[in-house]
Amino acid sequence: MTNIKKISIAGAGTMGSSMAETFAKYGYEVTLFDIFEEALAKAERLIEINQKTEVAEGLVSENKSKELMGRIKYTADMGNLADADIVIEAILEKIEVKHDFWRKLSKQVNKDVILASNTSGLSITNIAQVVERPERFAGMHWINPPHIIPLIEVIKGEKTSDETTAAVYALAEAVDKKPVIVKDAPGFALNRIQLAILRECLYIVEEGIATPEDVDRVMKYALGVRYACLGPFEVSDHGGLDIFYNIASYLFEDLCDEKKPFGLLAEAFDRGQYGVKSQRGFYDYSDGKDEESIMYRDQMYTKVSKCLFGES
Ligand SMILES: NC(=O)c1ccc[n+]([C@@H]2O[C@H](COP(=O)([O-])OP(=O)(O)OC[C@H]3O[C@@H](n4cnc5c(N)ncnc54)[C@H](O)[C@@H]3O)[C@@H](O)[C@H]2O)c1
Repeated sequence: MTNIKKISIAGAGTMGSSMAETFAKYGYEVTLFDIFEEALAKAERLIEINQKTEVAEGLVSENKSKELMGRIKYTADMGNLADADIVIEAILEKIEVKHDFWRKLSKQVNKDVILASNTSGLSITNIAQVVERPERFAGMHWINPPHIIPLIEVIKGEKTSDETTAAVYALAEAVDKKPVIVKDAPGFALNRIQLAILRECLYIVEEGIATPEDVDRVMKYALGVRYACLGPFEVSDHGGLDIFYNIASYLFEDLCDEKKPFGLLAEAFDRGQYGVKSQRGFYDYSDGKDEESIMYRDQMYTKVSKCLFGES
């Protein structure tokens, strides 16, 4: 299996830009590709802003930060992706767009090059249908913002070889991430858990049990603190499985099992209120509150991550 030194990333949006920055931080030569020149310019600016925060937080020296940024090449020419040991795709989350990209790309690259998609939930087995030599293709699901959040889900499609899975896993560890190997199921593991939580939170509000603000407080001031340190199985072991068994016996049947988006989520969606990016979601982000909120998020994630893992 290839010894990974050069990395190509397709899609210079929210995820691709921050993934490029992460690899460059660890000394990899990175080529970042996008079909739009303006996306590349935006990615370069975003990486500079992220780097300012990292320098200010003492996570990287000013010199190292400059060196890191110098290791990223920006290109709108797909042909430049081929000169790499791994190509990671973070383009639009539409199966036809991903199929089109992978059909072309997998023919362009050398047969030993590892291929990975950062899809949030599309089937790796499905994407792999158009990939030449699909055994070298896996999912590599980063979590936003990728340069801060430690988890990476490595998804093994039906045809993904053990060797490919191991190589993607090793690459994640090489940039100090905490990978997990997950079967190719809808939502993988993270989004199944995340959406189960969101569904119950929406239901709690719908049933008048608590307000959105108080639901957020329950998560931030209790469950979030616990889960930053121990997972649900560990938390249950500490609480006592007899206790959790008894609670589950009467509570499971009362929990939400809705099969479609509903409540506040569906209402906001219908109004075109998509959250921070449209300055209105469950909360208001107008008059500069959008940027304030993003800065607050990144500072807090960085602090927590630094505290728990010694670095972002
Ligand atoms: N945003 C998240 O929180 C998040 C988290 C995990 C995974 N993902 C996944 O990562 C991928 C990218 O998401 P994002 O949030 O960065 O999206 P984004 O919209 O910010 O960026 C996507 C970029 O891909 C470019 N692009 C589109 N088609 C392309 C093509 N054929 N070739 C090259 N570039 C192309 C676009 O110009 C854009 O710059 C998606 O599959 C998404 O589901 C997103």
